[in-house]
Amino acid sequence: MGNLKSVALPLLLAVSIIHLPFSESIWFVNYHIHVTNDLPLLNSPPGKPNLFLHCKSKNKDIGDRPMVKGQDYTWDTKINFFQTTLFFCNARWEGRKRRSFDAFVAYRDERRCVMHHQSCMWSVREDGIYFSKDNATWFNEYPW
Ligand SMILES: *[C@@H]1O[C@H](CO)[C@@H](O)[C@H](O)[C@H]1NC(C)=O
Repeated sequence: MGNLKSVALPLLLAVSIIHLPFSESIWFVNYHIHVTNDLPLLNSPPGKPNLFLHCKSKNKDIGDRPMVKGQDYTWDTKINFFQTTLFFCNARWEGRKRRSFDAFVAYRDERRCVMHHQSCMWSVREDGIYFSKDNATWFNEYPW
């Protein structure tokens, strides 16, 4: 058993080093997740929050926050060893809509979110919750 351990650890390290260019995200990359309130004001006053956002993982609660138009809700995460990192959010457009969405899923976002400064960008809009990996093109991944 002691022998197996003395072989297994250096082997694991060697494999990690060989795979470094492909899997370094598991160990080092810090992802920035942004969720912006881009909802139209309609008849709500500009200074009053019209969106309530609550994002969390199994282990970490980012908080339930009121958001005014244009406000950004952001946090950072790394991907855990088993690549099971998952943050989900509940979005509530006051008096109109609510839904939950996955803001960061390790296997889905590991690659697409490294393109633009390691950022996953979400925009909450009138017809749904949009994603962008480049902060230029947006896709409605979670219609209300
Ligand atoms: C995305 O673009 C907007 C508008 O140019 C800018 O304000 C924002 O900081 C950018 N976000 C990121 C994460 O680069």
